[in-house]
Amino acid sequence: MSDRLKNKVAVITGAASGFGRAIAVAYAREGAKVVVSDLREAPLTGGFESHPELTTVQEIVQAGGTASFVKCDVTVAAEVAALVDAAVVRHGRIDIMVNNAGIYRGGKLAHEFGEEDLEACWRVNVKGTWYGCQEAVKAFLRQGGGGNIINLVSTAGLQGHPKQSVYNISKGAQANLTRCFAIEYGHAGIRVNGICPTYAKTALTRALFDDKNFDDFFVQSIPLKRWGEAGDIASLAVFLGSDESSYMHGVLVRIDGGETLCRYSV
Ligand SMILES: NC(=O)c1ccc[n+]([C@@H]2O[C@H](COP(=O)([O-])OP(=O)(O)OC[C@H]3O[C@@H](n4cnc5c(N)ncnc54)[C@H](O)[C@@H]3O)[C@@H](O)[C@H]2O)c1
Repeated sequence: MSDRLKNKVAVITGAASGFGRAIAVAYAREGAKVVVSDLREAPLTGGFESHPELTTVQEIVQAGGTASFVKCDVTVAAEVAALVDAAVVRHGRIDIMVNNAGIYRGGKLAHEFGEEDLEACWRVNVKGTWYGCQEAVKAFLRQGGGGNIINLVSTAGLQGHPKQSVYNISKGAQANLTRCFAIEYGHAGIRVNGICPTYAKTALTRALFDDKNFDDFFVQSIPLKRWGEAGDIASLAVFLGSDESSYMHGVLVRIDGGETLCRYSV
């Protein structure tokens, strides 16, 4: 353990698997008290977790960290409010809110997507993040002393990609939501930033990772020639959650192996 997040109370949504889980484990390693939240405690199947037999809380506690679980569906405003309240009751305050829970829909042209795909992305990725930002801001304003919000966006929020329009639309909205909250609450010391990864290895991208054609194309197309790892994203989340980034505000940080630099690479 080191102390970059010593005694900070962090709530992380969608933290049973993938990025959320890696962020939770990294935060606890850096001394944070972590409230892990998800639809269920067990990780999704198909992910790349190093200890899929353990829940996130079990992994953190076995390593000597502090964590507890609160079940929360981020599409339900009352559940997100109850999540933030539970964190405050348990730890007396909240310092960092990581709005990570998200879903992906892809593989179809725009005219082929059904309304359900559009609505699902909107509900989880946009409304879920919106509720998380709202409830965190309310708690930060009540307790005073500022706060820190980190939204898991995507390079899909910064540009278009083929055959995933419903996802990109939701991520674009999430990117602008991040900017809007940053503008309105910076004066209160509440920092709001977004993380924009390209494709990284989690259950969310497993089907793309297993598709040899896509894998070859993707790895060849980006300058760093590899998929992102959940640990890459967790390292950035630690920096943004810590006081080391105290003058970063309203930024959508690309963590994409150079994906957005060029159409294709050498
Ligand atoms: N993996 C990537 O390549 C990638 C790239 C860019 C951005 N992202 C974004 O990062 C975030 C995390 O993605 P991931 O790859 O770790 O995904 P993942 O599928 O591995 O994990 C997502 C977690 O969110 C949870 N979740 C889903 N719906 C929820 C809901 N309604 N309420 C609460 N929890 C819910 C799931 O149960 C799961 O544990 C998402 O917002 C995603 O859009 C992922």
